[in-house]
Amino acid sequence: MDDLSLHILDIVENAIEAEATRVEIRVEEDIKNNTLRISIKDNGKGMLKEEIARLRDPFFTTKNKKTGLGIPLLCQSAHEAAGEVRINSIPGKGTEISATFQLDHIDRKPLGDLASTLIALISGHPEVDFIFEYRKNNKGYLLDTEEIKRELDGVPINYPGVIKLLKGIIKEGIKELMKGG
Ligand SMILES: Nc1ncnc2c1ncn2[C@@H]1O[C@H](COP(=O)(O)OP(=O)(O)O)[C@@H](O)[C@H]1O
Ligand SMILES: [Mg+2]
Repeated sequence: MDDLSLHILDIVENAIEAEATRVEIRVEEDIKNNTLRISIKDNGKGMLKEEIARLRDPFFTTKNKKTGLGIPLLCQSAHEAAGEVRINSIPGKGTEISATFQLDHIDRKPLGDLASTLIALISGHPEVDFIFEYRKNNKGYLLDTEEIKRELDGVPINYPGVIKLLKGIIKEGIKELMKGG
């Protein structure tokens, strides 16, 4: 995987396949501590202890035709950048997966196109609520689709016009943070 946005997409798809109705995506860049942290928390069906233990094995999957590489690849990307992956899950409650990276590590993959990733998730899964928080040092950007849906007052969030508008808003919202030091 070329950038971390693709990992985010993959981990969020896992959450949705686990029947989550609400997924919280947090990206935190901490320049002082030289860390990048990505965490994805869902309210899906969760996993048993033995499932979590097998998760880092490549090709472990509970799905039919899938490859079972999503989590092992994320672990690999984190390890390459002197980081790690932590998995917390409670059956029936949900799962939180967080990955850390050394921010300035030469092998740390770029975040990539966060706005497009988010838009793909929102338009592909209009029934799921997404919280997206991007923090850089002491500045932050927060998006909550539950709030947006309330404001849309019945207009589907995946209407082309709405999606176009949202993409512009998200892009604008994170642009300043992404380029700023
Ligand atoms: N958020 C989650 N909630 C519940 N189960 C999960 C979650 N993420 C991963 N899993 C379980 O871990 C397995 C491995 O995930 P992954 O490495 O992404 O491979 P794949 O999605 O191709 O099966 C999944 O098949 C699923 O059983
Ligand atoms: Mg997967």
